[in-house]
Amino acid sequence: MDMDMEARYTRTAMLLHWLVALLLLGQFAFGWYLQDIARGTPARGYFVNLHKSCGLLIGLLILVRLGWRLSHTPPALPDTIPTWQQQAALASHYLLYVLMLVMPLSGYMASNFSRFGIKFFNVIQFAPWGIDSKLVYGIFNQTHIVTSWLLLALVTVHVLAAIKHLLVDHDSVFSRMLPQRLPVRR
Ligand code: HEM
Ligand code: HEM
Repeated sequence: MDMDMEARYTRTAMLLHWLVALLLLGQFAFGWYLQDIARGTPARGYFVNLHKSCGLLIGLLILVRLGWRLSHTPPALPDTIPTWQQQAALASHYLLYVLMLVMPLSGYMASNFSRFGIKFFNVIQFAPWGIDSKLVYGIFNQTHIVTSWLLLALVTVHVLAAIKHLLVDHDSVFSRMLPQRLPVRR
């Protein structure tokens, strides 16, 4: 099939993909940075609330992205790609969406089982609706940490797969998520 005829993601899908990817990577770095701030200091409270606030906004954007995805069929993969790889791609994309949702949700849940709640951008206090429980906080916090590693691992596989399509398979898979088509060597 001619390159121009091949199915591509829409501009909105691309914008949402790259915006969410960029913000998520920043939020990962922010989460790790929190580990370096001494507990019980004012700086800790300030930055943790900033992390929570940014995380909530990213969570909303992820919901928009999921809504867009559920109401728009993604372009079919080129038929040169073996069925098992097409199935693996679909399964990994589903899992990416699940982990992307669990990440902010677990943080939000944890925050509501701590007396600190969320001080949105250090201005508006959202009072916690849950009880102050170290146990329940710990469960959601642990989920937040474990999910961060799972998501990072899957994103790594995802990026390696994208690079394989670009450099080894020389097919259109990488290009269809870019606004500009890359030249394809055949
Ligand atoms: C949107 C995506 C989010 C990502 C990618 C993310 C990522 C991370 C990471 C990587 C850490 C460090 C984990 C570790 O100790 O290894 C962390 C810590 C934390 N996150 Fe998030 N986060 C997100 C959203 C949120 C939200 C929405 C909240 C709360 C409303 C939140 C609350 C927290 C808290 C309280 C910690 C500190 C945990 C501790 O040090 O005990 N996060 N986050
Ligand atoms: C936090 C980082 C990232 C996340 C969470 C993520 C997530 C996703 C998801 C869920 C899809 C499926 C889109 C759909 O059909 O709805 C997708 C597609 C894609 N992503 Fe990412 N992505 C990330 C970073 C990257 C990076 C860094 C690259 C490139 C190096 C990349 C390259 C691609 C490509 C080429 C596709 C299209 C695959 C296809 O046509 O089937 N992604 N990504």
